[in-house]
Amino acid sequence: MPVGCAVVDRDLRLTRTNAALAALTGRSSWELLGAQVTEVFAGLAPDTPSLCHRVMETRTAIVGMFAAVGGRALRIDYHPLPATNGTPSDGLWIVVSDATVHHALTASEARYQSVVSAMAEGVILVDAEARITACNASAERILGLDQDEIVGRLLADSLSAAVRADGTPAPPDELPAVDTLRTGRAHNDVVRGVRGRDGRMVWLSLNSQPLLAAGESRPHGVALSFTDVTERRTAERLASSEMRLLEMVATETPLPAILRRLALLVEDHCQGAVCAVMRVSEDGAHLHPLAAPSLPVGYLAAIDGVAVGAREGSCGTAVHRREPVYVVDIATDPLWAGFAELAREHGFAACWSAPVVAADGSVPATIALYFSEPRAPADADIRVTELAVSIARLAIERERAREALRESERKRVDVLARMLRAEDEERARIAADLHDDTIQVLAGSLLSIDRVLRAARTNGTGVPTALTDARMLLSSTLDRTRRLMFEIRPPLLESHGLGHAVGELLDQTRRDMGIQVAVTIDLARLSPSIESLVYRTVQELVANARKHAHATRLEVSLTAANGRLQGLVGDDGSGFDTTRARDRSLMRLHLGLQAVAERLRLAGGDFSIESRPGLGTTARFGLPLD
Ligand SMILES: Nc1ncnc2c1ncn2[C@@H]1O[C@H](COP(=O)(O)OP(=O)(O)OP(=O)(O)O)[C@@H](O)[C@H]1O
Ligand SMILES: [Mg+2]
Repeated sequence: MPVGCAVVDRDLRLTRTNAALAALTGRSSWELLGAQVTEVFAGLAPDTPSLCHRVMETRTAIVGMFAAVGGRALRIDYHPLPATNGTPSDGLWIVVSDATVHHALTASEARYQSVVSAMAEGVILVDAEARITACNASAERILGLDQDEIVGRLLADSLSAAVRADGTPAPPDELPAVDTLRTGRAHNDVVRGVRGRDGRMVWLSLNSQPLLAAGESRPHGVALSFTDVTERRTAERLASSEMRLLEMVATETPLPAILRRLALLVEDHCQGAVCAVMRVSEDGAHLHPLAAPSLPVGYLAAIDGVAVGAREGSCGTAVHRREPVYVVDIATDPLWAGFAELAREHGFAACWSAPVVAADGSVPATIALYFSEPRAPADADIRVTELAVSIARLAIERERAREALRESERKRVDVLARMLRAEDEERARIAADLHDDTIQVLAGSLLSIDRVLRAARTNGTGVPTALTDARMLLSSTLDRTRRLMFEIRPPLLESHGLGHAVGELLDQTRRDMGIQVAVTIDLARLSPSIESLVYRTVQELVANARKHAHATRLEVSLTAANGRLQGLVGDDGSGFDTTRARDRSLMRLHLGLQAVAERLRLAGGDFSIESRPGLGTTARFGLPLD
């Protein structure tokens, strides 16, 4: 690049020039000679004359001043003239160079600088050796480092502990800026985690852009810009952990497994925390560990059974107050006076505890977070703790509801068993009464009548027709009463079991009705209450077929599979409208089917009936056998 030179005298006139200066200023040498510096260069600072005199007097150079000539920016450096023969020369010399390009660059750079420094995005510039040459204020803020700690270092050193989005270590070669430098390829939205100065993970979304001058094929640097996505990422991860836990609650995973996962979630989202879920005893007076996957066994044993109270560490106090307690420094907090030594032995310096308050106002548990350094909760920590408490509340309440259900199921089965037993006892009593009382009386009356009839025949007094009629009536009543006695308490059921009793019932039906009966019975002996229930069910369904269906065929099947008894009673008779039959107002005096269905349901079974007028009826039922 041509450099113009000129010697300037005390009056600031040019006394000697070179050709380059003529070319730079666009004037001929003779035009320049004798002209004043201030005439030759426009736009000089107004204090240029005094500046020149200062150079002459102090004999020190002033460089980097600017002027304009014909639309060009010229840089002018003022130098004192070298001394001749020991005497300082009177005057100075100027060195002039074309600064148009440089000047334009500087101006755009200034504009660029102001934009970059105002940006919320962090920006880092690296040179061809991947050394950081500049960064903006946002980069300092996001990385939690000062400019001096960033600029001048190798990018790979600064981000050496980077991890990928899935948490695995990302080798420096894989950094987008390093790759861009090597290949010239730009990268967008690459997520990397780096550790900030306070040890917290900062998640960055990185973009890298090659810096290429015109004609260059390899980048001479890279502009790396990034935004802090820590909060967004944390919220997303927390939401997906929450989802997984809620799924566990919904699929009725056992409570200890849910709470264990919950403790791990808290540890994952609150840096440095060790989490314990503590159960409050039934009487509300003590605490016991429920899930604490990372707490030392010795410490767990020591805190098992600690009391609930106004000054009982973080957990005991939190349950007592029914609100979270944040002990920032165990060593100095009066709430920990009784346990500080124990905590110190296990390296715990801070402990927060958030109680789980259930919908009914009880406090079934509390969630504790231990730290090895004194620590006050940040907003993010409180968010995680609150989430953990709400999930624990949900899981515990579901578990309580399930337990209540199990309890009521136990009661229901118990009530049913007692009811069936009472019913059987009552039947036995009625059957015995019928046998010992009614049947004896009827039989006795029949004997008396027979005696009267015999005497009348012997005496030849003649027998009144009314007496013969009465005898017939009495005899058939005796038969029916005997049958009733057996129906009420079939003797075969107790002695030979369900299969025989049902077989006998169906034989009787076949004999009485003269219809075809197909029977399949494949059952071992069952508990007396179940056998009785099944017998009564078949009895009612067969009675209905006899009474209402006018069937020609009857099918009965009783089988067991997979711990369940399956029963079927079908006929090819008249059928009926099941919707009408279910109407209680119409069926007030017909309770057979309803009673059957209700008893089966009470025993944990099911009952269904299929029927259409003219198309026969099929009833099905099932019963658990355990
Ligand atoms: N197998 C069947 N074929 C035709 N109709 C039937 C059959 N089973 C039931 N029904 C009809 O359904 C009605 C209700 O039956 P349900 O057993 O409840 O009462 P019921 O037999 O009339 O009286 P109860 O059983 O109380 O002595 C019967 O009145 C009858 O009209
Ligand atoms: Mg009936």
